[in-house]
Amino acid sequence: MNRNSKVKMIAAFCLSCAFGLLHAQDAEKAFVKENMTFAAGQYRLMLQTPAQGKDGKGVMPHSTRKDGTVSKASIYMWTSGFFPGSLWYLSEYLGDKALQDSALVYTRKMEPVKSFTDNHDIGFMMYCSYGNANRFSPQRSYRDILVESARSLCTRYREKAGVIQSWNGFRSWHGDKVYDFPVIIDNMMNLELLFYASRATGDPSFRDIAVSHARHTMMNQVRDDYSCFHIVYYDKETGKPIKGETSQGYSDNSAWSRGQAWGIYGFTMCYRETKDPSFLTTAQRMADFYLDHPNLPSDKVAWWDFNANQPGYVPGVRSNANNVVLNYRDASAAACTASALLELSTYSEGKLAKKYLEGAKAILHSLGSPRYRAELGKNGNFILMHSTGAIPQNGEIDVPLTYADYYFLEALYRYDRILDGKPLF
Ligand code: GLY
Repeated sequence: MNRNSKVKMIAAFCLSCAFGLLHAQDAEKAFVKENMTFAAGQYRLMLQTPAQGKDGKGVMPHSTRKDGTVSKASIYMWTSGFFPGSLWYLSEYLGDKALQDSALVYTRKMEPVKSFTDNHDIGFMMYCSYGNANRFSPQRSYRDILVESARSLCTRYREKAGVIQSWNGFRSWHGDKVYDFPVIIDNMMNLELLFYASRATGDPSFRDIAVSHARHTMMNQVRDDYSCFHIVYYDKETGKPIKGETSQGYSDNSAWSRGQAWGIYGFTMCYRETKDPSFLTTAQRMADFYLDHPNLPSDKVAWWDFNANQPGYVPGVRSNANNVVLNYRDASAAACTASALLELSTYSEGKLAKKYLEGAKAILHSLGSPRYRAELGKNGNFILMHSTGAIPQNGEIDVPLTYADYYFLEALYRYDRILDGKPLF
């Protein structure tokens, strides 16, 4: 072959690679669009379902009842911010004014929650609703509501221990002892509200609390293998951690998959806000625990607990996990993990960046397939099937859950921006 033909051959090869890449990117963009369009159709039907219960108690879509119809929850339920948040992602992606109007209507229902101090969940509730409202359609009043919400969350900060108290108490599955200072891994998700409040006000105290909470969680709640305890009990007097147990996982020493997702997401977000490399390493090792786990099914949608029904893992005597012999997936854990992995891929390099991006992509394609994605008008008009809320409490087993939908939409939105080479925030 002469030099000219060689050059032509190499040029043809490069062109076909470039076309192949472009084609693959188009296919992924189309995948996101098809899922977003389907989800909008499903949520337009959801918007037509009436509120339930008296005094506006059942306003926010939460899950389904035994008969398959939607169940709605009060604005004070920890999941209340997800439906407005999902409407924000859909309206923003699709540029749909009617969906944006609905996002606003549902967001405004959340305002009274700004002074809620009875548990730590205000971050989930207000940052997914008003936080997204403020991001996509900023207004001074949203900022004020978010800052007040952050102040409410800070009332639960316990200086001696350096953490925000999650619940007022928890009765151990092992007997009758009630612990009065439980902190759960989910609490990492509430910190985003605090970082925002410091940026909005210039007052560093919100951020200081968030960083302190994340550092203590890293020390006391994340285990040596980078799984985590669902709960750590602290001593009110000394501020020292007493022990780790579980509320929603299979056993104290098991890896509850949604807890793992909260950790991956939470530490990734803390790295975004602080650039502290120990948060990045923690997020990466927690992500590796999920993606490399021998019990992760090939579709990468985790079982509700990585260790359910395995030797060496024993639920507390009062836990309903003792009675559940079948194993169940948790699409909500997978969706939240996918969203976190996408962000984590942007802070990682080389093989790790590729691993997290490919992991997220695999999860999204599984969740967008008929195995997990509902048919239009079915599944109580939720998008995803097969989530698991709380097996130990005997609730929400193999059902749709509003937060599975929220993190699926957030992940699709993030994926689309990555495909376009745009920053996530
Ligand atoms: N934050 C409660 C849960 O993950 O179920």
